[in-house]
Amino acid sequence: MKKVIIRKTKEIENWRRNINSEINFIPTMGNLHNGHIKLISTAKNDNSNVNLVSIFINPLQFDNKLDLENYPKTIDNDIKISLSNGADAIFIPSNEDIYPPNNKNISFLKAPIELSSALCGVNRIGHFDGVCTVVYRLLNLIKPKNLYLGEKDWQQLLILKNLVRRKNLNVAIKSIATQRDFDGIPLSSRNVHLSKNERKLIRFFSNELLEAKKIFQQEKKINLNEIIKKLSSKKISIEYLEHLHPHTLQKIRLEDNISLLAGAIKCGETRLIDHVFLMKRRPIIAIDGPAGSGKSTVTKLIAKKLKLLYLDTGAMYRALSWLMVKESIDYKKEKKLKNILKDISIVFKSNTNSHQDVFINNYCVTEEIRSQEISSIVSKISSIKEVRKFLVEEQRKIGESGGLVAEGRDIGTTVFPNAELKIFLTASIDERAKRRKSDKQSKDSQDIDIDTLKELIKKRDFEDSNREISPLIKANDAIEIITDRYSINEVVDQIIDLYNDKIPKEVEIK
Ligand code: PAF
Repeated sequence: MKKVIIRKTKEIENWRRNINSEINFIPTMGNLHNGHIKLISTAKNDNSNVNLVSIFINPLQFDNKLDLENYPKTIDNDIKISLSNGADAIFIPSNEDIYPPNNKNISFLKAPIELSSALCGVNRIGHFDGVCTVVYRLLNLIKPKNLYLGEKDWQQLLILKNLVRRKNLNVAIKSIATQRDFDGIPLSSRNVHLSKNERKLIRFFSNELLEAKKIFQQEKKINLNEIIKKLSSKKISIEYLEHLHPHTLQKIRLEDNISLLAGAIKCGETRLIDHVFLMKRRPIIAIDGPAGSGKSTVTKLIAKKLKLLYLDTGAMYRALSWLMVKESIDYKKEKKLKNILKDISIVFKSNTNSHQDVFINNYCVTEEIRSQEISSIVSKISSIKEVRKFLVEEQRKIGESGGLVAEGRDIGTTVFPNAELKIFLTASIDERAKRRKSDKQSKDSQDIDIDTLKELIKKRDFEDSNREISPLIKANDAIEIITDRYSINEVVDQIIDLYNDKIPKEVEIK
């Protein structure tokens, strides 16, 4: 495809009509560095869409005239960098093109106060309004499928995600982790203004944040005052240093797992921002829902794609049910049960087919726990208080360091109430019966007629939803996905998009 440079907003529409492809959009203000290159190359490698880079120094987002005048302008080099790293088109509009005088069609937007009144918003009055206005204008002109943004400007990213939701725009935001220079400082177009001494100071600041992250990993706490003291001893002028919730930008709560440590400092005339994410444990995804909603298949695929551990809690209840049958344990005798549970060990091990085997007291029961015999008693056994208590504790032990996706019926409500992402996966009774019937794993179901299967599913739902302990209910903060209309891959992609939206790239498990 011929690479083009577009300079007029009017030409954009023509170009869009001709390319016959979806668009990846990478907005920039020029003076491109390795951070921008990473955005452009990520877009190129993500899909086969056409990549459009825009270069526009947006006057509306500068609260300081001098800053605007001094903003580095390197357009020829920017064109070269964009084209050699995967851009198919470059949009370089003029000021008058983006903001034509007397144009009533331009919406001058306000950023949401809850997000823009924190961190950089306190001193950069109107900055985020300007960002929202220009990005909204560009999105309306370009109509991209994907918008690529850096996590370096985390607050901007949150505000733009909010804009896309608020305006109901049909664009997916894809983010990349903060890109750092060899000495640890985040790449920024403004770095060119730094003197040798200023660079030394920002390096000290960034390295302090990275050090705080390391300490937090071990101690699970930070001492903001100590960091401020250290920075002050180097005569670093701190505009703010805050420990906040990464999405609401409100003060962090004890139960929050991932938090944001963000700061801004002034080095001479240059203002620089940096942040790190602090994490008590790696992320957890909780997937709950009734039998036959597609939970197991979806959870396994998500675990594989996101390189998370797959915690199949249903298999743990089934394995226990299997043992009760095998050893003729009278599970109604509570006192006896307590003693028996003490000596039970359930472990998951990867097998040679890159699947997981489940072992109970060293018996491999992967296949046998899927029989109709086990299906017909597992709900009863899983409603026994002692059983639930025991298995919930076992599951929490496995989840202590996070990095897992768990499926069950009470994961988001009871087992991991602080999971970063909670999904409630469901489907109609008809659909679930159809799926059970064609499920090769539940061999016995293939011999049962569809109406009986429907009745069995209804009965199981009733038992699960009405049991006293940990009934099947959707957690308040869970996102419901009704899977009837979607293929498995579509459901998996939806959940991965939700995960990417919640979990900063910086904390992703490698
Ligand atoms: O992050 C930036 O470079 C700018 O704020 C953006 C998103 C290009 C809008 O002008």
